Amino acid sequence: MRHEKIEKSVNLMMVLIVLAVSVGGIVEIVPLMFSAEATEPAEGIEVYSPLRLAGRDVYVREGCYNCHSQMVRPFRSETERYGPYTTAGETVYDRPFQFGSKRTGPDLARVGGRYSDAWQRLHLEDPRALVPESNMPGYPWLNANMVDPELITAKLKTLQLLGDPYTDEQIASAAAEVEGKTEMDAIVAYLQGLGTNRSNRR
Ligand code: HEC
Repeated sequence: MRHEKIEKSVNLMMVLIVLAVSVGGIVEIVPLMFSAEATEPAEGIEVYSPLRLAGRDVYVREGCYNCHSQMVRPFRSETERYGPYTTAGETVYDRPFQFGSKRTGPDLARVGGRYSDAWQRLHLEDPRALVPESNMPGYPWLNANMVDPELITAKLKTLQLLGDPYTDEQIASAAAEVEGKTEMDAIVAYLQGLGTNRSNRR
């Protein structure tokens, strides 16, 4: 009887649905906000250096995430291929994180150090020079674009404001660190760092 009343009244039903979804959502989401495992950096994880941060921005701008995920799932087939699975504490300095699920190309969460810098550069300029069957586009213009030191300094300041533990010295020296660097230098530095500062490295 009572059930029938709910089903026949759209308004009552809406209110009850919103209530049920809210309570369910809060119960799932709120504990995560306080769980150190999800909100605090895992052992060995540090903030991005200015050059790597610039590279990360290029990665996002160029849409690399449309073809590459950065999350090794906890399955044998994945850990055998890519390395230890990804944990939340590894990605606390990723704003936004680059997990993704589209894998036209391989997962990149553990790609740091897998190839030489020279390989990464040439591969980004012209993927088919190294992998003839590749359908990845080339990004030759990254060699011509310069990293903007002022912009990176401003970004570090903003991240510090948001609570990332950048020191004032790091911010003061950021501009000098990226001065004269191309976007290619930056994205290669970013790629070469992926997955390399975890404590569960192998
Ligand atoms: C259209 C899809 C596509 C896009 C967009 C794309 N890639 Fe790829 N990527 C691939 C494919 C497919 C491969 C595997 C073949 C190869 O090595 O070229 C690959 C391979 C790679 C590899 C080697 C990974 C390994 O473990 O062998 C790296 C590094 C890489 N891509 C970086 C990037 C970066 C950085 C960007 C953005 C600037 C990017 N990719 C954009 C498809 C893509």
